[in-house]
Amino acid sequence: MARSPESTMSRSIGTVAMRWHGDSLELLDQRLLPTEEHWMTLEGASGVAQSIRDMVVRGAPAIGISAAYGVALAARHAGAGDWQAVIRQAIEVLAASRPTAVNLFWALQKMGAVFEACTDLDEAVAKLADAAVQIHQDDLAANLAMADHALSVMAPEAPMSVLTHCNTGALATGGYGTALGVIRRLHEESLLNRVYADETRPWLQGSRLTAWELARDGIPVTLNADGAAAAILAQKDVRWVVVGADRITANGDVANKIGTYSLAVLARYHGVRFMVVAPSSTVDMGMASGAGIPIEEREGTEVREIRGIPLAPTGVEVFNPVFDVTPASLIDAIVTEKGAVLNPDAESMKALFS
Ligand code: MRU
Repeated sequence: MARSPESTMSRSIGTVAMRWHGDSLELLDQRLLPTEEHWMTLEGASGVAQSIRDMVVRGAPAIGISAAYGVALAARHAGAGDWQAVIRQAIEVLAASRPTAVNLFWALQKMGAVFEACTDLDEAVAKLADAAVQIHQDDLAANLAMADHALSVMAPEAPMSVLTHCNTGALATGGYGTALGVIRRLHEESLLNRVYADETRPWLQGSRLTAWELARDGIPVTLNADGAAAAILAQKDVRWVVVGADRITANGDVANKIGTYSLAVLARYHGVRFMVVAPSSTVDMGMASGAGIPIEEREGTEVREIRGIPLAPTGVEVFNPVFDVTPASLIDAIVTEKGAVLNPDAESMKALFS
């Protein structure tokens, strides 16, 4: 059986989003945090796809890793009959779970290539499990490398406070985190004064997940309503806004959690720098610009109510795009495990990613 990805962690993080057992995948149900820590056990690809759709697991890298484990589970439980059709169907179902984070399609493409090279089911079971664990381990390694690269970019302004949006931590990745990994590293190096965490309406990834993760690790965090971001940038010692990404296109445009674009505008106005931290599995060099990114819209109930409690008149029309696109011109640095692209544009992106 493949090694456990957690065993390769060079830094100990108290939080993980998923646990792989070879014949099942456990997901920490992020819908219930911070009040309840409940693990769901999945034994098939359709359950994993549903968990991604319902946001039991979320965050671009974690979605990709979970989908990879979903393909491995499809092979493990294929049984007698047309095992190749079962795995192909699993890949299709997983690909239909959420549209924006390209990590999902990147991971499924990698798993599909491994599958197509297998000649029998035993080989597919072993190789797909190994490939999924490898994707998980590589994501952890990428997170640690990104923190190093980001630190060299930020060091001249340190110590400092930062502002972040959504959740980009261990819960959203293979562990450690992208933007939150950078923030962890700043804290480890005693270069962080404080993190301001946008609550991130409507799903509240900031208040329910980021504040929870940071508080668990003793990292100084102040939670703020999204609308307070401008006042914070105007008044506090925030030098960088640091966020993750769901898809970065060939010209450096970035799709990320709704509200990221407005933060980038605010940061530029206030002379605060804006950093996007994401592994290269989030970079879609096949897409020319952010205009092509499919933006997921979720149900109006996410805005109209919270855990069944109405916050608005019943049935009021809601516009609920859950991602937006920040143009490259508002971004000071895109940091991946391959290095940092400063003032990203088509040319500088091509230099690092082609
Ligand atoms: O809808 P979500 O919670 O999956 O959205 C998550 C984000 O937008 C994150 O910022 C992004 O996926 C990067 S996570 C390292």
